[in-house]
Amino acid sequence: MNHRTPDHFSSHDLKIGIIGCGYVGLPLALSFAGKGHHVLGFDTDPAKVEKLNRGESYIKHISAAGISKHVHSSHFSSTTDFARLRDMDAVLICVPTPLDERRDPDLSFVEQTALAIAPHLQREQLIVLESTTYPGTTEELVLPILERSGLRCPIQRNEQTAAAPDFYLAFSPEREDPGNKHFGLAQIPKVVGGVNSASGQAAANLYSQIVARVVPVSSTRTAEMTKLLENIFRCVNIALVNELKLLCQRMGMDVWEVIDSAATKPFGFMPFYPGPGLGGHCIPVDPYYLSWKAREYDFATRFIELAGEINTSMPYHVTDAVANALNEHRKSLKGARVLLLGVSYKKDIDDLRESPSLKLMQLLIERGAKLDYNDPFFPSLHKMRHYDYSHMRSVDINPQSLASYDCILIATDHSSYDYEQIVGSAKLVVDSRNATRDVQNNRDKVVHC
Ligand SMILES: NC(=O)c1ccc[n+]([C@@H]2O[C@H](COP(=O)([O-])OP(=O)(O)OC[C@H]3O[C@@H](n4cnc5c(N)ncnc54)[C@H](O)[C@@H]3O)[C@@H](O)[C@H]2O)c1
Repeated sequence: MNHRTPDHFSSHDLKIGIIGCGYVGLPLALSFAGKGHHVLGFDTDPAKVEKLNRGESYIKHISAAGISKHVHSSHFSSTTDFARLRDMDAVLICVPTPLDERRDPDLSFVEQTALAIAPHLQREQLIVLESTTYPGTTEELVLPILERSGLRCPIQRNEQTAAAPDFYLAFSPEREDPGNKHFGLAQIPKVVGGVNSASGQAAANLYSQIVARVVPVSSTRTAEMTKLLENIFRCVNIALVNELKLLCQRMGMDVWEVIDSAATKPFGFMPFYPGPGLGGHCIPVDPYYLSWKAREYDFATRFIELAGEINTSMPYHVTDAVANALNEHRKSLKGARVLLLGVSYKKDIDDLRESPSLKLMQLLIERGAKLDYNDPFFPSLHKMRHYDYSHMRSVDINPQSLASYDCILIATDHSSYDYEQIVGSAKLVVDSRNATRDVQNNRDKVVHC
């Protein structure tokens, strides 16, 4: 085998292992396969592995054709056999980093993965952690486990010179935005930080093959913090507009109009939009990785806590808005037939994770509503960690069915909905997304919240 210097990772026929073939790992795998590398996906879920090896997709926005093409040309396959890690030139880790029951970081998936790699780690292999996490994870958790192999990857700070590492270790955050039609993996610059300069260079060379621009930073900790800054920025700004929405409502103003008009400023302003709460795998979760780590430094991350408080209160606000709107129609929420539109956490995707709709459903049911839902992406719902709606099925929507509900709640503004028809047929619509902004007729039936 060739000596794997950092330059080796610029070559075009590498064996690349991707651990965790989910929303992040699968597109990454297909991207490298598309460049002619031989990609092996490692996943602990045998059902996913079998599906992928049959060339099937289990994520709506990733086409089966894109997978089967690479399976048939032998550029992509998947396995549950972690012993095959030893054959890889580079191994990219894309496993989940959720919060535990106490809302503290749950790094068990990353830890298990490092433990799975260590016995198979080879000299001059490149290992990159992509999972979102707090600054220090790569150096403090992953590195010591990998070094149990007897191989060394010395930490290099600033201008220090470091001994040549036995293997390369880096962190490169994933900025994938599922379903975003404007920015795919190739267009999004990729931040890369190494445990030492050789590791950073090796990872930068590898990623340069699939993205237009690599942004090298001085350390894994900087790369880890970069990702958290990006997501905390979103979380805090969403909380800000959510709070201003409540104030605008009290003052009789339309917050959407205010935001649209502020967004005409060509510098110094970026629009964020209010909604029924935060959703997705990242924004409601990642900030708490930093608050947790900050405690080690006796540091209170007050913006994060305040944003969390406001965003968490939004589903309660929307539930109250439904109750108030029904009250105006001389109806109580208890016993009212309510249809919730959209269960995914944002429009046009099939992802339920941390969706505020799930909390809204719970609150509406607790307050006695007779609840149905519709979502074109979810004909039925499965049991989740905190919720069990497995008995519910997406109901058909047509003028008759819409008219049979006391209230229609727009929780997620899927593009496929015909909002003119929805408002036209419904008795009452509560719109938490400003989805009805272009509806021409019957606007008096709509309550914005
Ligand atoms: N989904 C996104 O939009 C997004 C965007 C940016 C960053 N991230 C981050 O990327 C990471 C992965 O997220 P995701 O959305 O791809 O998660 P996911 O749940 O879609 O996929 C994770 C995959 O890892 C597998 N897995 C779990 N434990 C494993 C183990 N020990 N070994 C091998 N495979 C294992 C699971 O079966 C699953 O297929 C997380 O840290 C997340 O915060 C996600």
